[in-house]
Amino acid sequence: MTKVTIIIGSRRDGNSSKLAKIMKEKFQKERIISNIITPGNQKIYLCTGCMDCDQNGKCDFKDDMEDNINKILESETLIFITPTRWNLLSGDLKIFMDRLNPLYTPIKLKDKKMISIVIGGKKKEEYSTEAALTSLNDFADSAEMKVVYQYQFNECLLANDILKKQEEVNQMIDNLIKKLK
Ligand SMILES: Cc1cc2nc3c(=O)[nH]c(=O)nc-3n(C[C@H](O)[C@H](O)[C@H](O)COP(=O)(O)O)c2cc1C
Repeated sequence: MTKVTIIIGSRRDGNSSKLAKIMKEKFQKERIISNIITPGNQKIYLCTGCMDCDQNGKCDFKDDMEDNINKILESETLIFITPTRWNLLSGDLKIFMDRLNPLYTPIKLKDKKMISIVIGGKKKEEYSTEAALTSLNDFADSAEMKVVYQYQFNECLLANDILKKQEEVNQMIDNLIKKLK
């Protein structure tokens, strides 16, 4: 059975969280084990850039990242879901990604699958989700992960807007599941 960790960049019960929950339900039916991490609701100190982890592969901070890193190491696939904020990924997610540096030297994320999903309030032609997507994919490239699927939801401003796109959501998850197997 394949294991997946879903990391969501929004701490509100909004579009990212709702999408993650729908995914988890569908994954269960396919016998895919998944857990959801919401960094914004956890205790995660900011990376100071001390680089100690480059020497010993560990961060000196004792916080929720210890458990998160164990979950990530056990997973074959990481799914990042982020709202776009000022055309970038969310601050919560950036803080989380910086704290993954202990997995970067030595490369412990290498060959894991990465799925990048961005949700924005604006229309697609306003390119609101493009830069956040690039940022997620650049992170995956640096860590030598394989981006196997990516998706952008647009015109999701209010917390429930993604639920109005049920058909698009179902189609996207069906396509995504094919990449997990
Ligand atoms: C501070 C802030 C900045 C935002 N910037 C953008 C943006 O640049 N482009 C965009 O399309 N939506 C932007 N939005 C809207 C969010 O991307 C949108 O509401 C998204 O659905 C939020 O995801 P959530 O429901 O999971 O929190 C912004 C929202 C906030 C709170």
